[in-house]
Amino acid sequence: MVKTVALVVGARPNFMKAAPLMRELHKHPTRFRPLLIHTGQHYDHNMSQLFFDELRLSEPDVYLGVGSSTQARQTATIMIELENLWLDSPPDLVIVFGDVNSTMAAALVAAKLRIPLAHVEAGLRSFDPNMPEEINRIVTDRLSDFLFASEESGLKHLKAEGVPDEKVFHMGNIMIDTLINSLAACKEKPVLEELGLKPGQYAALTMHRPSNVDDAHTLAELLKVIVEESKRLPFVFPCHPRTRKEMAKLGAFEEEATSRLIMIEPVGYLEFLRLQSQARFVLTDSGGIQEETTYLKIPCITMRKTTERPATVDVGSNVMAGPYPDRIKAAIDDVMAGRHKKGDIPKYWDGHTAERIVDLLLDRF
Ligand code: UD1
Ligand code: UDP
Repeated sequence: MVKTVALVVGARPNFMKAAPLMRELHKHPTRFRPLLIHTGQHYDHNMSQLFFDELRLSEPDVYLGVGSSTQARQTATIMIELENLWLDSPPDLVIVFGDVNSTMAAALVAAKLRIPLAHVEAGLRSFDPNMPEEINRIVTDRLSDFLFASEESGLKHLKAEGVPDEKVFHMGNIMIDTLINSLAACKEKPVLEELGLKPGQYAALTMHRPSNVDDAHTLAELLKVIVEESKRLPFVFPCHPRTRKEMAKLGAFEEEATSRLIMIEPVGYLEFLRLQSQARFVLTDSGGIQEETTYLKIPCITMRKTTERPATVDVGSNVMAGPYPDRIKAAIDDVMAGRHKKGDIPKYWDGHTAERIVDLLLDRF
């Protein structure tokens, strides 16, 4: 019998994780009917639609249009909408990705309706409960029937939390499937030329973590060191809408930062992959970008105290500088002096994660 498999996405980092799995499921039309549900957590053209175009991801079968709100309101609205949908026509399996509010909301609804649940990117832990994502990860993993780990730390954490071994599978990193599939296409994007950047002679910057951008003092201190470092080499900064809004509150300093950095709107996946792959280094607080730079072997400096992706530090090219200007400056000094580590690629970050997941589902489900 054909099984209906609902993939739930909502925010930017979900789209690149869902695309390879949708493609792989579609290869088995006699076994699976994949349905893509977009919650609408992200909704700006360049935080959402652009990725469907660039990743050749089919248009969502269902768009819930929930938009932005507080943590509880956003989560609750997604839950209400999904419950309405699934009470009428429950899928046979729900698949969720990563750690955003859409992930946890879908996991809660699936679990309460007793719909089998799979979590792609299971077991990651920052052990920092101040991150809304950490709560989302713990809840989602606790409720999941299939836990697909992207790196070895995930296996260790799930074991320590008492998740039965038979639910946990080391499948690898599905973002890297998309990265490998996109390397050729990204070379066609003339983004460096358009911005007047030369390969290896600029830095790429992203930041959007509430702990870095929601507090005006922290945001200003971070931007000050970045503006100072931009005297050494240009920084291209595709600015997340959360950060753009917070920067607008900084007054005159916002104008200075905007004029000294190459501040642009968030760019599409292929453009950003091109920007990362040619950068001297990447300065970020993103989760996914720590992993992509590891695969690309581009030095990554992470402006966070913790990472839920320790393989990027233990194996890859990532260093943790925290939100501390002196440590960020020292890490940039190291890269500019050629003292950064070269890094390696963690196990199963090989472009075949979606295949492994679908093989398992064909077998077990
Ligand atoms: C969310 C995720 C975070 C992820 C990030 C990826 C949660 C708790 N957080 O954070 O884990 O790293 O997405 O980018 O799920 N906004 C717009 N247009 C949009 C989307 C957002 O203007 O299309 C603005 C709104 O003012 C909104 C704010 O950005 O309030 C934050 O959006 P939200 O989805 O709540 O959190 P992110 O910071 O994007
Ligand atoms: N990304 C993008 N355009 C941008 C910035 C990031 O396509 O302007 C991609 C990036 O390559 C990675 C994903 O977005 O694939 C990471 O998402 P984000 O940093 O928003 O979320 P996080 O991974 O921190 O949850």
